Amino acid sequence: MKGFKRKKFFSLLLTVFLLVAVISAGCAGDAGEESKDLPKIGIIQIVEHPSLNTIREEMLAELEASGYKDGENVIIDYQSAQGDATNLKTISQKFVADGYDLIIAIATPSAQAVVGETKDIPIIFSACTDPVGSGLVASMEKPGGNVTGTSDAVSAEKIMGLALEITPNIKTVGALYNAGEANSVSVINDLKAFAAANGLTVVEATVTNSSEVQQAAASLADKADAVFIPIDNTVASAMPIVAQVAKEAKLPVYVGADSMVADGGFATYGINYKILGRKTAHLAAQVLEGANPGDLPVVTIEEVEIYINQETAEAIGIDIPQAILEQANIF
Ligand code: TRP
Repeated sequence: MKGFKRKKFFSLLLTVFLLVAVISAGCAGDAGEESKDLPKIGIIQIVEHPSLNTIREEMLAELEASGYKDGENVIIDYQSAQGDATNLKTISQKFVADGYDLIIAIATPSAQAVVGETKDIPIIFSACTDPVGSGLVASMEKPGGNVTGTSDAVSAEKIMGLALEITPNIKTVGALYNAGEANSVSVINDLKAFAAANGLTVVEATVTNSSEVQQAAASLADKADAVFIPIDNTVASAMPIVAQVAKEAKLPVYVGADSMVADGGFATYGINYKILGRKTAHLAAQVLEGANPGDLPVVTIEEVEIYINQETAEAIGIDIPQAILEQANIF
């Protein structure tokens, strides 16, 4: 009798053990398979400034609207390099080593880093000013390889045309940018061509990181009648500091993007970055559905609008012609 009870007890214990083992193995197996099956998307962004954040947020919302939701049917891993080139390399290498299915690179420095790491994983870049000049793709119409994306090509001529309408007495323009950003260099070359053709002089103040921006901006205050800032990620990250210097020196600052006007810059002729974010999502969705990035032309945005910061205008004492005000988006 005693022996039977003990035997029964042990077999019960064994059953419980087995059950627990089977259940936990089952759960682990499920979770493992689920995350293995979901496509993994890595998003890499050079730095967090308002324009790039807007692009990313709009893009994620549009991806979700197209049926790609983080944690449900895709896994999205977002990483910011915090303005540091070494981080760009580390993040890119990790995305590649982990075998991600798609990499989305926001801004030119991020895209250059990722393109240097893989010729296989599909890459969609976003908001890259000069995709051919910065070596991302061979052609806008037929990129080839594993890369395509969206471009925010801006026109230095258009911005300077606006500048000469609002402040016709400009003779010397100060160019403030990071010479290590290919996206900026390409626009500054256009600025120099415009200046040469229109009898203007360009003086340059370049920076290598955002902590140098205040001094560089201040150095232009004595030499220039106006400042021109291209779509430069390093300067955009320190835009409120530039705005402060400009107000004190009563210097009009013409910029490359709406967000830089919102952050205290004076005026621009630029694109709508929310639309650009959505167009980036459409490309990503096409690739997730099986399209080959190299077959998809780089997407550009033709419509540009005027953006003006009224508070800045008042602070630097400039009257904006009514005809321009009527067409402008005012911050
Ligand atoms: N066009 C920039 C690049 O190619 C990125 C960018 C998008 C940007 N919006 C901006 C830079 C606004 C400065 C300000 O890298």
